[in-house]
Amino acid sequence: MKKVGIFYGSDTGNTEKAAQFMLEALGEENADLHEVSKVTDLNILNDYELLIVGTPTWYLGELQSDVDSFKEKLADFDLSNKTIALFGLGDQIEYSEYFLDGMGILNSFFQEKGAKIIGAWPNDTYSFSSVLSLTDDGQHFVGLGLDEDNQGEYTEERIVAWLEQVKEEANLGI
Ligand SMILES: Cc1cc2nc3c(=O)[nH]c(=O)nc-3n(C[C@H](O)[C@H](O)[C@H](O)COP(=O)(O)O)c2cc1C
Repeated sequence: MKKVGIFYGSDTGNTEKAAQFMLEALGEENADLHEVSKVTDLNILNDYELLIVGTPTWYLGELQSDVDSFKEKLADFDLSNKTIALFGLGDQIEYSEYFLDGMGILNSFFQEKGAKIIGAWPNDTYSFSSVLSLTDDGQHFVGLGLDEDNQGEYTEERIVAWLEQVKEEANLGI
């Protein structure tokens, strides 16, 4: 059985591209990729040791629409023993006040459902004024932040470093 399930939604392809790169970096023998609108049986979440969930933020601080529907479907699903790592896509220049808010919304939701969130990521190489996706210390995002609009050149190296961190935190042994 594969250890990691990557779940994502994407309107214009940036989050999809990041998710696909994560699959390659983890190795197809270790991970599966799921576009959330195509998930018909939520029990698939029980197949993995680690869930990686990614969303862009759209329309001033909102979740991508398919991710929003997925979140609604999960409202009655038991997530209390799940380990989850989040990643978010956003635009820190045009939407500074709402940068990565979608990831913050997911974090609150999964925390309330009792899941363990791992993969906090330092935010000192970004410039923004939003607060929803920050950890309590203010120095980290609750998951990996990616900005294809302004910092696309960092995306792959950020993903590679973050996956190493997450694999260690989840003790995956891959
Ligand atoms: C109309 C519009 C609204 C957006 N709103 C936000 C926002 O509130 N916060 C943010 O961080 N990024 C925002 N973005 C930037 C997108 O999140 C970013 O382009 C992302 O990479 C898109 O991901 P996708 O291609 O997977 O849909 C917005 C972009 C557009 C065009």
